[in-house]
Amino acid sequence: MGLNVLLLGSGGREHAIAWRISQSPLLSRLWIAPGNAGTADLGENVSGVSPTDPEAVRRCTEEVRADLVVVSSDDPLAAGVIDAVVAAGIPAFGSTRAAAEIEWSKAFANDLMARSGVPTSAGPTFEDPDEATAYVRHLGGPVVVKADGLALGKGVTVCDNADEAVAAIDAAMREGAFGASGTRIVIEERMYGREVSGHAFSDGITVRHMPFSCDHKRIFDGNVGPNTGGMGVYAPPTWLVPDTAEAIRTTITERAIAAMAEMGRPFAGVLYPGIMVTETGPRVFEINARFGDPEAQVLLPKLRSDLLTVLDACAHQRLADVEVEWDDRASVGVVMASEGYPGPTQTGRLIEGIADVDDDVQVFIAGAKRVDGRLLTSGGRVLCVVAQADTMEAAQAKAYDNVARIHFEGAQYRRDIGDTAALPLEFAR
Ligand code: GLY
Repeated sequence: MGLNVLLLGSGGREHAIAWRISQSPLLSRLWIAPGNAGTADLGENVSGVSPTDPEAVRRCTEEVRADLVVVSSDDPLAAGVIDAVVAAGIPAFGSTRAAAEIEWSKAFANDLMARSGVPTSAGPTFEDPDEATAYVRHLGGPVVVKADGLALGKGVTVCDNADEAVAAIDAAMREGAFGASGTRIVIEERMYGREVSGHAFSDGITVRHMPFSCDHKRIFDGNVGPNTGGMGVYAPPTWLVPDTAEAIRTTITERAIAAMAEMGRPFAGVLYPGIMVTETGPRVFEINARFGDPEAQVLLPKLRSDLLTVLDACAHQRLADVEVEWDDRASVGVVMASEGYPGPTQTGRLIEGIADVDDDVQVFIAGAKRVDGRLLTSGGRVLCVVAQADTMEAAQAKAYDNVARIHFEGAQYRRDIGDTAALPLEFAR
């Protein structure tokens, strides 16, 4: 008898996870709540279950007779879905609410990093806007103002000077721009360098690192314009020299997971530190308790091992028994987004050409739905075209060649995903 798996979520990341789980010899049936138009081809989408309602998820596990629940996004983890499912006796992949605090409270993460010696830009926490304002006026220079809680990826404001910082403090603390998540803020030193995403599986004790990857968060080529959920990603970055990569694995990821275990909150799931590689070495600017999106979409095609075996081992605290192998190929993902994204978008536009992509290229769906057999846009980030090849240049060429075969009115995408993969680092201010 194989495993019945219930996966929560509806993004491109979940489509990629469902795609790999669906290939597993361990799988019996796959259910995705709520899923999307892509996951519908790989398992059964379940509607009417809120992924952030622990009791509703627990009831759903009974209905589908789940042997394993997989949670890959922040809000259900922060809501305590893993705790509810595990309390009902069902194994689950993902961190408990207490362990996920490393993502849902920046103040908690900063305190953990300070106590365990994880290199970071972390700064003080404020609950009083007047004190925060006095602090940034005293510093006088560039800082980053962060809402303490989850804010749909929008709670971080990078400020060039004290006036911008005061405006960011006012928005978060006086105007309620991020709701309750912004009533407490942290103010951090601004770092200069290049960002890299670290990912690792853990069962609370054992750590299995994934390849490094680089997201492209701004809407336009050259990494300018407003922030988005991520416009594309590549792995691995050849600019990341081996010593720095090893320092990230040991002084950041492994140290953070050991510190969580020591404080009685073992971290099981995917730990994903966001790291700035600076002149003085790698430093953390955030820690996430889940797979990155779109990072998961380029990493999972590189996984040689069976994903479901790894997730199940993490859920049963036996990751030490499992080797996790990755291939060396370059992997590039290009996000195609709706016109207007990241602002208000037009949706309902017909998507054509997916059937024409190469057999070895993946198209992961995020904001699209099927209506009367036709695939229509339904969100900001619509889909991600992902290709692998022996070199980064070949992977880029393959991804863009396939992007050109997919059409919807107003589609926008970056033309430079992967261009920095081999570009030496500069620390210009
Ligand atoms: N890659 C950005 C995120 O998943 O938060």
